[in-house]
Amino acid sequence: MRVLGIETSCDETAASIVLNGRHVLSNIVSSQVALHRQYGGVVPELASRAHLDAVIPIIDLALKKAGIGLSGIDVVAVTRGPGLIGALMVGVQVGKGLALALDRPLVGVNHIAAHLYAAQLSEAPHSASPHSASPHSGPSASDVVESDALPVAYPHIALAVSGGHTALYRVDSPLSFQELGSTLDDAAGEAFDKVALMLGLGYPGGRVIDDLARGGRTDAVAFPRAWLGKRKFDFSFSGLKTAVRTHVKVNGVPVGDGLRDLLASFQEAVADVLVEKAMLAAKEQRVHRIVVAGGVGANSRLRALLTQRCAERRVEAILTPLRYCTDNAAMVAGLGYHLAQAGDVVSPFTLDPDAGLSRSGAPA
Ligand code: KG4
Ligand code: ZN
Repeated sequence: MRVLGIETSCDETAASIVLNGRHVLSNIVSSQVALHRQYGGVVPELASRAHLDAVIPIIDLALKKAGIGLSGIDVVAVTRGPGLIGALMVGVQVGKGLALALDRPLVGVNHIAAHLYAAQLSEAPHSASPHSASPHSGPSASDVVESDALPVAYPHIALAVSGGHTALYRVDSPLSFQELGSTLDDAAGEAFDKVALMLGLGYPGGRVIDDLARGGRTDAVAFPRAWLGKRKFDFSFSGLKTAVRTHVKVNGVPVGDGLRDLLASFQEAVADVLVEKAMLAAKEQRVHRIVVAGGVGANSRLRALLTQRCAERRVEAILTPLRYCTDNAAMVAGLGYHLAQAGDVVSPFTLDPDAGLSRSGAPA
C-alpha cells in the first residue's frame, strides 16, 4: 500500500510516498527557514502563504521521485495538528481535495505521533536510489521482501524533542502511546533558538549551536538542571535560558574558545536532563529501549550522551535518522498506513485541522 503523506504544520512544506508504512520511496521537504530568519522566528501568516505556493509542486516532486502517478496513491495521509492553524489548513485542504478527486481513503495524522513513529522508516530496498527521478525506478509492493515486525520493537520510551514540543512517552505500538511528562515552559528547541538569538547566532539556533559547541568544554560554565522533584518526567528550560542571559550580561558575549565553552556547557545542560529523565522513564516502565525523535533529536551531543548512558545501563538507544528527526512527511505517511489499516479513515468532507490537537495518546 502506497501512502501519500502531506505535512504543513509549521515551516516545512513536505510530501512523501511510503510503501507499507516503512519503505520511503520519496521524501521531499521544502524549508521556509530563509523566509523566517530575518524575523528570528516563524511568522504564521508568511508560513501559510509559503505552504500555498509550495504544496502542489512538492507533492508533484514526491510522486515523480517515487516513480508513480496520482493513481498510484492508495491512501492520503495529512497532518491535522498540533501546529499553526493557517499552515495546517493548507495541507488539510489539499489532502481532502486529493482524496475526493482520487476516491481514496483519507487519514488525519497527529504530528507528534508521527514524530514518535519516524524511527520505523527506512529507504526502500531493491531500488538503486530511493530518490531517483526515473519514473520506472520505484519498487512495487511485490518487489519488497517484508517481515511483519517493525525495525524498532515495542514497547519503548520515546523522547520527542523539537522546537514546539518536548515530552517523554511510553510507546506500545504505532497507534498506542502515553505521555509521561512534558515541558512546563519552553521546548528544548526553543531554548536552543532563544540562546542562539541572544548570542547573535541567527535563527534557527539548534544546528548552529551544535556545530559551534564541538570541542568546547561541557563543564566550563555550571548551568542549572531542572530535575523538578516529584514532576520527574516533566521538563523546564526557562531557568537555563535565564542563566545563559545572566552569564552573558555579566561576562559579555564571548568569542572563540569562550563561545565554544559556553555553548558546550549550555548544550550539556539540555542533553543531560533529557537523557537522564528518559533513562529514569525506561527504568520505571521496565522497558529497555529509548527512541529519540524530533528536530532536537538531531543534536550530536544528545545522541552521543544517550548512546553512552544507554550502553552503561544495558538499554538500547535508537537514534531516529537525521532526515526523519526534523519535520518531514515520510513520518506522516508511515503512521498513516497504520491508521488506514486500523480503519481509522476520515471523511474528506469533515476533516478539520486542529491547532491544539492533544500530544498525549491520540495518533490521529
Ligand atoms: O521537529 P522540528 O523540525 O520542528 C518542530 O516540530 O518544532 O524541530 C525544529 C527545532 C528547532 O528549534 C531547531 O533549532 C532544533 O529543532 N534543531 C536542533 C538541531 N537541529 C534542529 N537543536 C539542537 N541540535 C540540532 N542539531
Ligand atoms: Zn515537528
